[in-house]
Amino acid sequence: MTELDLPMIVTEIAADMAAESERGQVADYIPELARVNPGQFGLALALPDGRVIAAGDTEVPFSIQSVSKVFTLALALGRHGERVWERVGREPSGDPFNSIVQLEYEKGRPRNPFINAGAIAVTDALLSSYAPREALGEILRFLQYLAGDDDITIDPAVARSEQETGFRNVALANFMRAYGVLSGEPAKVLGVYFHHCAIAMSVRQLARAGRFLAFDGRLAPHGPRAVSSRMARQINALMLTCGHYDGSGEFAFRVGLPGKSGVGGGILAVAPGQASIGCWSPGLNNVGNSLLASRALERLAERTGWSVFTAR
Ligand code: DON
Repeated sequence: MTELDLPMIVTEIAADMAAESERGQVADYIPELARVNPGQFGLALALPDGRVIAAGDTEVPFSIQSVSKVFTLALALGRHGERVWERVGREPSGDPFNSIVQLEYEKGRPRNPFINAGAIAVTDALLSSYAPREALGEILRFLQYLAGDDDITIDPAVARSEQETGFRNVALANFMRAYGVLSGEPAKVLGVYFHHCAIAMSVRQLARAGRFLAFDGRLAPHGPRAVSSRMARQINALMLTCGHYDGSGEFAFRVGLPGKSGVGGGILAVAPGQASIGCWSPGLNNVGNSLLASRALERLAERTGWSVFTAR
């Protein structure tokens, strides 16, 4: 097989995306996110040899929102192991990320850790061993370690904006508390949840933070271990089946890689053994996933042949 010219592929994709006129809709249910310029696009690949290949708006921090759920899940699994699955399932929901309907007939146990209810339950698990401020510090430090970059912070304006308007999440948390799925006080759990969703990262930082998923739990093929290889495999499976909510089937069909989206327009995608990929463009499609980041990842998968469904 001829060697892939990744710098050229990444540069061409970024140029094509910059020229797109259809860019989706920026999320506006969190007022602070509605202020972001939809004209931006960035793509970064963190490779096994430590290089990062990036193009477009590679250094602009954006709100990672639901992409943070991958990292809180990894932390909770590391701390509580299989007990995490007592409060949250592992099945796609087939519903929007903020839906409440399944919670009632499934007795307050969320379908998976990536819908809002599931992620709030995971945050509650983290709070059984940490006070809120410590839990947030732990999440941030974990991300800084994974990315090898101390310059990753929480955007307080985004956290405040969601704290003031996140009434659906308040409903989800109270509902789960009523069923005993949450053990902590809903307001405290939500405070931590809103703040970890408000972490800001660039595509370069995101690609580096996701390396442990591409390299069997390590930061590089023979590098330091962040999580067990089994855990990395399990998180990838959940990203593939649940990472794009009700768009997960379409993303698996078009891109063929595990991925996790956020309403800030970011997507973390994983090509096992090949690359951890950070992609971002703020405009969303009708199911709340970045329109151009999804398109760019489809293009990248086509050009590289990377897929979890292909023999290599
Ligand atoms: O709870 C919320 O609604 C946001 N903090 C996160 C939602 C999100 O990113 C869904 N992703 N597409």
